[in-house]
Amino acid sequence: MTPKKLQTLLLEDSEDDALLILRVLKKGGYQPSYQIVETKEAFCSALERQSWDVILSDFSMPTFNALQALQILQQKELDIPFIVISGAIGEDVAVECMRSGAHDYLIKGNLARLVPAIDRELREAKVRQQNRLALQALKESEIKYKKLYHNAPVMYLTLNLKGEITEVNQTALEKLNSKKENLIGKDFFSLFTAKTQEKLMLSYPNLLEKGYISGEGQLNSQNQTIDVIYTLNLEYSLQQPSIVRLTCLDISELKRLQQQLVHSDRLASLGRLAAGISHEINQPLACISMSAEILLSKLNSFSPPPIFQEELQDILKQVDRINRIIQNIKTFSRDFGHSFPSPVNINQILHSSLQLVRHDMEKNNIEFCLELQENIPTIKGDICLLEQVFVNLLLNAKDALEEKNPPRKQIYIRTFCQNQNIFVKIKDNGIGIERENLEKIFDPFYTTKEVGVGTGLGLAISYGIITELHGRIECQSQKGEWTQFTITLPLNCEKSTKTSV
Ligand SMILES: Nc1ncnc2c1ncn2[C@@H]1O[C@H](COP(=O)(O)OP(=O)(O)OP(=O)(O)O)[C@@H](O)[C@H]1O
Ligand SMILES: [Mg+2]
Repeated sequence: MTPKKLQTLLLEDSEDDALLILRVLKKGGYQPSYQIVETKEAFCSALERQSWDVILSDFSMPTFNALQALQILQQKELDIPFIVISGAIGEDVAVECMRSGAHDYLIKGNLARLVPAIDRELREAKVRQQNRLALQALKESEIKYKKLYHNAPVMYLTLNLKGEITEVNQTALEKLNSKKENLIGKDFFSLFTAKTQEKLMLSYPNLLEKGYISGEGQLNSQNQTIDVIYTLNLEYSLQQPSIVRLTCLDISELKRLQQQLVHSDRLASLGRLAAGISHEINQPLACISMSAEILLSKLNSFSPPPIFQEELQDILKQVDRINRIIQNIKTFSRDFGHSFPSPVNINQILHSSLQLVRHDMEKNNIEFCLELQENIPTIKGDICLLEQVFVNLLLNAKDALEEKNPPRKQIYIRTFCQNQNIFVKIKDNGIGIERENLEKIFDPFYTTKEVGVGTGLGLAISYGIITELHGRIECQSQKGEWTQFTITLPLNCEKSTKTSV
């Protein structure tokens, strides 16, 4: 049998004893390559220079001993089989050595156990090394799993069988805008809106039967709701149901785009219809207007009762109003005339829009608070059309403030640039909008104003202009408290090719 190589570090001050030990090792089938040290410094530099299979140490040397050597090994977190071989060793010293981490101790006069002890310790050290590697691999895979778990684009929540949350991933915390300690122990039902809770109640019994349920619903997140597709999966341990995994995928953006698509589609067909009608009305309207003008001019020669003049003037006023409506319908049907998109500064457009409505605002004691980002980047747009949007929003805010008449009527305007988008927020503390009406306000001809006051086209036109610039216009409101419109315009927005209907 070929001798087994053994890197041996000998802590020994007697050369004779060291040679004796080496002889025993060779006889036992080892081929030791060794170094003999007897001081702390020599021991440390030997440890640093190379790795060792075994350390065989005398208990006490002139300036160093086995206990100090063991302490150094511990500090350096080195797991090397350490066997104390001493001349005479008391039981208490032997116990102390073992407690300090020695693997065995032998008497110099009796080295029969040395080789079997080294065999055993090498085997055990190998097992310990394998365990350490397995533990390390486990830790690494745990870290990997945690990263995947927390950074997944879906919300993961773990529930116990009572439906209480026991674990939650980072994505869920962010989406729900909550802290982990506020969610742990909470009943998962309460995360959902009342409507989704009802739906869940009905399907929940299926979870035990089928092992999973899924559906579409809404989660509550502070002041807003999130549309999600949820799945509840029952997991087993020792063939018994143990936990439930709740997975929620946020589909809010998808839903918003879907609604926008439906809305744009509806607007486009209504636009075509409106454009057709306005074209038909224009002709007879021009006739009515001309006839009324002729009659008015001839009236003086008859000296008729005043009512004739009053009624004719009223006809002309109404014709004027119809003309304005037709103009609005034309704009709405995307007949924007000749518009030339060029780099524009949104802050400047807001200032000029404010000038246009200044008189109305002052009359109503409306205060403005402007927070416009300095040096805001320009975007490509049409000044007149964007002015039209802002004037629409400002006049709506004025009407809402007049209707509520709060002690301080305020309009707050903010602009800022974020993530390659320009944001414009216009907020008033007026009458607000009912939740169910929020979906209707961008519909053409939707108005809550008295007949003759509003045409219900202001927001529909604004919506058309902003989407034409590849932007978004959204509204949030608290009935009776406030309304906020948010316009988002991409920095690289280019007006799309004009499509007149
Ligand atoms: N800031 C606001 N506060 C409260 N309600 C608002 C606000 N802005 C819009 N609305 C609601 O949305 C409706 C539609 O607004 P829109 O501007 O399209 O039409 P309008 O103002 O009624 O008429 P006009 O065509 O003259 O603008 C309004 O009638 C009102 O009910
Ligand atoms: Mg309006």
